[in-house]
Amino acid sequence: SGEGIKRPIASMPGQFQWSIDTAIDEVKAVAELGVPAVILFGIPDEKDACGTDNYSPNGIVPSAIRAIKEAVPDMIVISDMCFCEYTDHGHCGIINMPDHEHYTPKLPQGYLLNDPTLDLLGQASVVHAQAGADIIAPSGMIDGMVGAIRAALDGEGFDHISIMSYAAKYASGFYGPFRDAAESPPQFGDRSQYQMDPANKREAMKEVALDVAEGADMLMVKPALPYLDILAAIRAQYNLPTAAYQVSGEFSMMHAAAERGWIDLPRVAMESLTSIKRAGADMILTYFAKDAATWLND
Ligand code: PBG
Ligand code: ZN
Repeated sequence: SGEGIKRPIASMPGQFQWSIDTAIDEVKAVAELGVPAVILFGIPDEKDACGTDNYSPNGIVPSAIRAIKEAVPDMIVISDMCFCEYTDHGHCGIINMPDHEHYTPKLPQGYLLNDPTLDLLGQASVVHAQAGADIIAPSGMIDGMVGAIRAALDGEGFDHISIMSYAAKYASGFYGPFRDAAESPPQFGDRSQYQMDPANKREAMKEVALDVAEGADMLMVKPALPYLDILAAIRAQYNLPTAAYQVSGEFSMMHAAAERGWIDLPRVAMESLTSIKRAGADMILTYFAKDAATWLND
C-alpha cells in the first residue's frame, strides 16, 4: 500500500516491492517489451488468522488488478491464489487453533483445515475475477482447490476465467528468497503437509490427475530446473498447456554466481529458460522475464 514505492528486495537483485501506482508503470514497461502476462503477489497492510485482505474487494491485490486492467487492458493478469501472504501465521489456509471458529479438537493444533480453506479460496477467486483477473493460479496445493475455485467462479458467471493450477509444487528450499520478498514465512512448522516431497515423482502425477479431473486449464510445475523430469512427464501424458515456474532461489543463485564472476548471467539465464522450454513448458513464469525479453529483442 502507499504511493511511489519501489523497494528493492535484497535477496532478489533487480526485483522490487511496488505500490499500485509504480506497479502500473512497470506493467506498461513490460508490455512494451512484449511480455504477455504478469502475476501478482500481495503484501497487505494487516494480516489476520483468515487472510481477510485476500478476499476483500479493496484488498491490495484486487485493487492492483483493477488498476492494472484499467491502465493496460491487454495485459493478462494472473492472480496467485493463496493465503500465506495474508495470514498472520504465514500458512496457506485456515489453521486449527483453539480460538478459531473452525476449531476441530480431533485434529492436531496447527493442522491446515482443508474445507474451510476451500470456501475462502472460492470467495477470494470470485473477488479477484470481479476485479478483472484473467487467470486464477491457486498455489497452495490444498486438496480440492481447483474444483472449489471452478465451482465458485462458475456460480458467479465467471465460466471464462481460467485456472492455472500449481499442480506439482514441491516443498522446496528454492523458495527462500521469495519468502523475504512476500514477507510470508510460516511462523511455525513448514508446508510439508500440503506441498510435495522432492523425492516423489508418481505423487506429482497423481496430484496432476486430480487437478485435471477438477477442471484445471493449465498445469504448472514448480520449481522448474530441478524438476524438469516432472515437467517432461506431464507434457508426455496430458494435452493441457503446461507452465513452469522458475522460482526465486533459481533466479538468485544465478545472480549470486554472476556477481562473483563465476558465470555469464545472460548466457546462463537464457540457457536455463531454453532448457525449461525444451523439457515441455508452453509458458514460463520467471523473474528474468524483463531481461529475457530485452535480450531476445536485441
Ligand atoms: C505461495 C507461493 C510461494 C511462491 C509462489 N507462491 C511461496 C511458497 O510456496 O512458499 C514461491 C515463489 C518463488 O520462490 O519465487 N503463495
Ligand atoms: Zn501459500
